[in-house]
Amino acid sequence: MTVLGVVGAGTMGAGIAQLGAAAGMRTLLHDPMPDALERGSESVRRGLAKWAEKGRVDENAASLLEPVSNLDDLSPCELVIEAAPERAELKRDLFGALSVLCGDDVVLASNTSSIPITSLASAAARPENVVGMHFFNPPPLMPLLEVIRADQTGGSAQALAEEVGRAMGKEVIVAADGPGFLVNRCGRPFNGEGLRLLQERVATAEQIDRICRLGGGFRMGPFELMDLVGIDVGFEVAKSFDELSFGEPRWRPNPIQARMVAAGRLGRKTGRGYYDYADDGSYRAEDPEPPAAGGGGGTPLALLGDGPLADGLRERARSAGYELREGGPAELVVDAGTSPGESLPGGAPLIVLCAATSLAARGESGAVGFHALPGGQLAELTRLPTTQSFACEAAERFFASLGFHTEWVEDAPGLVLGRIISQLVNEAAFAIGEGVGSADDVDTGLTLGLSHPRGPVAWSEAIGLEHVLAVLDGLSEERREERYRAAPLLRRAAALGRSLRD
Ligand SMILES: NC(=O)c1ccc[n+]([C@@H]2O[C@H](COP(=O)([O-])OP(=O)(O)OC[C@H]3O[C@@H](n4cnc5c(N)ncnc54)[C@H](O)[C@@H]3O)[C@@H](O)[C@H]2O)c1
Repeated sequence: MTVLGVVGAGTMGAGIAQLGAAAGMRTLLHDPMPDALERGSESVRRGLAKWAEKGRVDENAASLLEPVSNLDDLSPCELVIEAAPERAELKRDLFGALSVLCGDDVVLASNTSSIPITSLASAAARPENVVGMHFFNPPPLMPLLEVIRADQTGGSAQALAEEVGRAMGKEVIVAADGPGFLVNRCGRPFNGEGLRLLQERVATAEQIDRICRLGGGFRMGPFELMDLVGIDVGFEVAKSFDELSFGEPRWRPNPIQARMVAAGRLGRKTGRGYYDYADDGSYRAEDPEPPAAGGGGGTPLALLGDGPLADGLRERARSAGYELREGGPAELVVDAGTSPGESLPGGAPLIVLCAATSLAARGESGAVGFHALPGGQLAELTRLPTTQSFACEAAERFFASLGFHTEWVEDAPGLVLGRIISQLVNEAAFAIGEGVGSADDVDTGLTLGLSHPRGPVAWSEAIGLEHVLAVLDGLSEERREERYRAAPLLRRAAALGRSLRD
């Protein structure tokens, strides 16, 4: 069994050492600060005792833990995982020293979330023995391990990292080195596009969060998440992406982050961020249940368009009691087609999907715009100054009768969630196309590492690539920003009618 060394006995290091001892490895835990070493070791013992009570580990697992106060004591280790503070020079010095004292064959792994593994590898005597092992917080509970290949990483170092990760009970995915590796890179649009929507005042932070929860099934929206992580932490991450990518427009930090940091509104830890936190930590009301579906009462409805969203809406409308009309007069017309249909029947309230264009660009001055995801519980609605109130009321009634919450937002292609999800899919397509990781690993990474309800590739399959591409091209056309250019792989897959998985 591998002798494991863990450097840094803080939040991550202690968690990783717990996993090592639980997996039956002799585990040497080092921290230069005596207090930190004591606290970290105590936390490992407590964690193992809890697991022993539940029968998950052997009673003797704690005896495998050896706290060591000198770095030199790590000399017998075959694998050392470094979880020291996030400073490149400190980590490079550690790798240089560990190379000397542990001998040529030691594999050195870093748990860094943002420092390129390639730059750490070049500080080791044998760069081919350096690899990234990115655990998620808290390591004992989060099921994922992201193994990162530096440009220099050799096959045997990668294999050992994967093998140890599996022995620790983790689902292992493999990523190439680069900004944010795979998981944090592919997860970035959730916050990044959320901030852009807030900046454009398409919706408030509370609305964007609610739309993500109810419309997309996310446990938390981007703003409550940023508050939880710390807005200063998120801003540093954004700056590091910007720097490492030499200014990639999709990854540009947002001025709102800079202002929040300047104002000292850092999120939960300061009691105030995008939300105000009460002493007991509460900050928002519980989400209500969606309205009960039904009440169509045989109303003649024209529901136009192809694709998963239109098909899903037709099914929901039929079960809610609407009479679906192919032609002829209807009391309500809903165009859920990804691209604007040719001619729409007149004389009835009109509700049109905002995907390929905003409502304003679409040229239906009396219509209500909408966006929803197949299977979602919330429909976003938007109106123009020329939209009549009877059309707004008809749209609210229609979606409520199909069991949707509704939320009024400002106009944009994809409205709120269509934009966030399209950018998540787009980032995944860029990452897959650039060889950062496989489509399956992207989905595993985002569901297990970031607790997304489904991965971006699965989203693209549920919504349809055509829909995703329509939103991106709509934004690209109306915003004229490189940020919204579609990934080559996405365009290619859509043109060939294939999945990003193929
Ligand atoms: N906290 C997270 O959510 C998270 C998630 C993934 C990765 N990471 C990464 O894990 C690493 C550790 O993060 P953390 O949250 O555990 O930090 P932490 O501050 O809780 O722990 C860092 C520990 O390193 C010790 N330390 C200080 N100088 C040292 C040195 N010269 N050599 C060895 N140890 C030293 C400190 O005493 C402290 O106990 C960072 O690189 C961080 O980016 C953190």
